[in-house]
Amino acid sequence: TEGPLVDTFGRIVRDLRVSVTDRCNLRCTYCMPAAGLDWLPPSAVLDTAEFVRVLTVAVRDLGIESIRFTGGEPLLRRDLEEIVGAVAALPGRPEIAMTTNGLGLRHRIGGLVDAGLSRINVSLDTVDAARFAEVTRRDRLADVLDGLAAAAATGLRSIKVNAVVPDRADLGGLGDLLQYCLDHDYELRVIEQMPLDADHRWARASMVTADEILSTLGARFTLRPDPRPRGAAPAATWLVDGYGARGGGPARVGVIASVTRPFCADCDRSRLTADGSLRNCLFADDEVTLMPALRGGLPDTEVDAAIAALWRGNAWQKKAGHAVGEPDFHQPDRPMSAIGG
Ligand code: GTP
Ligand code: 5AD
Ligand code: SF4
Repeated sequence: TEGPLVDTFGRIVRDLRVSVTDRCNLRCTYCMPAAGLDWLPPSAVLDTAEFVRVLTVAVRDLGIESIRFTGGEPLLRRDLEEIVGAVAALPGRPEIAMTTNGLGLRHRIGGLVDAGLSRINVSLDTVDAARFAEVTRRDRLADVLDGLAAAAATGLRSIKVNAVVPDRADLGGLGDLLQYCLDHDYELRVIEQMPLDADHRWARASMVTADEILSTLGARFTLRPDPRPRGAAPAATWLVDGYGARGGGPARVGVIASVTRPFCADCDRSRLTADGSLRNCLFADDEVTLMPALRGGLPDTEVDAAIAALWRGNAWQKKAGHAVGEPDFHQPDRPMSAIGG
């Protein structure tokens, strides 16, 4: 039952994104409605021991090398430090990262880094407080900026900022956001919005493209293509002339062009949802639930093998690509916040 997870197209799955909760304390307009969503009932969500068990199988038996905790908002789990600590202690020592909206991060980052977290990505679309409050429907910009500063103070080696451009009018604020990130030594990545909003309001024509993002930033900064190989990274990166990065080397800015330049051919990801389902693509139609293995009353000695078997079957079914924008594309049933980005 050992050996890596390989899909139909020969891609090896090495990266796992784990949504530890579908809940969030922001209400970004491109993600969820003002009233929030119908959250999973607590009993449907994996507990600490269940997450640790599944992640142990992933690392020990299935070749997973890097784990990213996401949400909803992962910091809403009080046991995140405990889960991170248990995963960090596994033989093979997977790389552990987190994607967070940054609220309350300043209180948690020290404990998480001590537990074994080595990289964080913080969602931040604008450094204009009024616009931040409109987009997220919460007036919390200062909290996010404090969280980023606290992360920098721990000496964390990689801090990235993820920005979605909700509206073409937001291109005007992008230069200030990049300037802020350069001044604080965070790596900004600007993201093309994907059709994953709970309201189903995404439209290709209103989506801000990578080309628009690059020409906007290029008007204020001198950008050069990054010579570093990209590998399975979702972002294409540019070097920003005149700025340096943490620990030496040039500063970078990235663009994640999931729609206009999909990177599916190099994708090495799989996903675990908070309610114990495996998804092998953001846009997957089929999921495989691990619940029968976890809660089906199997003898304890058979649970790990059952998890691994379900997982291998799911990896095999990974699609070639997501076909966003093509005629037969349809949005997945789960919204972004319940998939984990
Ligand atoms: P790094 O390892 O730091 O590059 O992290 P990441 O960019 O993979 O993760 P992050 O959670 O910061 O996601 C940034 C953006 O990439 C978000 O908008 C995600 O939704 C998007 N993204 C993550 N995984 C995938 C994927 O498999 N396919 C596509 N199309 N987009 C993805
Ligand atoms: N398209 C692209 N990115 C999105 N995010 C949230 N919703 C979308 C969307 N519809 C981003 C968040 C966060 C990351 C996990 O995904 O801003 O940075
Ligand atoms: Fe929360 Fe992220 Fe969705 Fe914003 S995009 S509401 S921070 S889950």
